[in-house]
Order: sequence, then structure tokens, then C-alpha cells
Amino acid sequence: MSDKKTGILLLSHGSRLDDGEEVIKAYKEMYEKEFPEIPVEYGFMEIRKPGIPETIKKLTTENDLEKIVVVPVFVAHGLHTKRDIPGMLGIESDFDEESVSGHHHHHHDHHDHHDHDHDHGHHHHHHDHDDEKVEFDGEIVLTDPLGIDTRLYEIIKDRVSENL
Ligand code: NI
Repeated sequence: MSDKKTGILLLSHGSRLDDGEEVIKAYKEMYEKEFPEIPVEYGFMEIRKPGIPETIKKLTTENDLEKIVVVPVFVAHGLHTKRDIPGMLGIESDFDEESVSGHHHHHHDHHDHHDHDHDHGHHHHHHDHDDEKVEFDGEIVLTDPLGIDTRLYEIIKDRVSENL
């Protein structure tokens, strides 16, 4: 851990329903309770407020931060965590368009492959995003998502056993 004054952003996808906010808010409050000296906020990458620029603005105006650690509370990497969120945060990404599954099969399909790249059941119209940009002079680190972990596997087993 560095000596830099660091803030945390727990980032959820965003939904029109309230369930996701209840969950991310609860994690934010747990973190806050355990680490009361570390500023933490939650926000959404799209669809729901507060969005990324707004949340970072809140963190940085209320605290004198040198660094922000953004945790995407997603199970796995996807186009959002590899490409879209780094873009919104204005940070470098090692994302390679060639790595998109099916990219080569649709290589001839130049007119619409970008839509296919992000077809997971909702639309991404411009009104979903603020035009506001992230304004922060310090360092922004985007962590890995939750990933493969036996602690998550335990929950999967619980969900099954509860319903047997
Ligand atoms: Ni999305």
C-alpha cells in the first residue's frame, strides 16, 4: 500500500431496477464501516446515477486524493471492463479488438460488428451517459473484476442447496 491518499470507487453496471443499487450500496457501507479512514463511493457505468464522472467528482471534492482505486463489481472481464470503463475513466487499456470472440468470423461484416460486440440485452444510447468527463489529476487504477474464487463458489453451492 502506498502513502498516497486514496479513494475507492465500487463500480456496478447500472440498471433501471433498484436491486443492483441496494447490493452495491451495502458493499460500500460494509467497506466504510471496516475502513472509516478511506473515502469510498459507489457508482454506475451506465443507465443509473451516479455515473463515473459524477462519483469521481464527489470523491475528489470531499477529499484531497492522489489516487483512486476503481473496483468493477462484475464477476468476469468483458467489453465493459476491458474497453468501455477504461475509456470512461480516461486511462490506458490493453484491450485488443482482435480478441473479441467471433471477431474473425464476422470480419467481413464491418458495417455492424461494433453493435454485435456489445449485444447483452440493453441499448447504449447517448442519453445513458453524461457528456461530463472524468476530471482528476491523480492516478486512477482499475482493478480486476471478482473472478474465480472459492468464496464465490461457496455462494453458488448455497444457492443450489437452498433450492433442492
Ligand atoms: Ni452494458
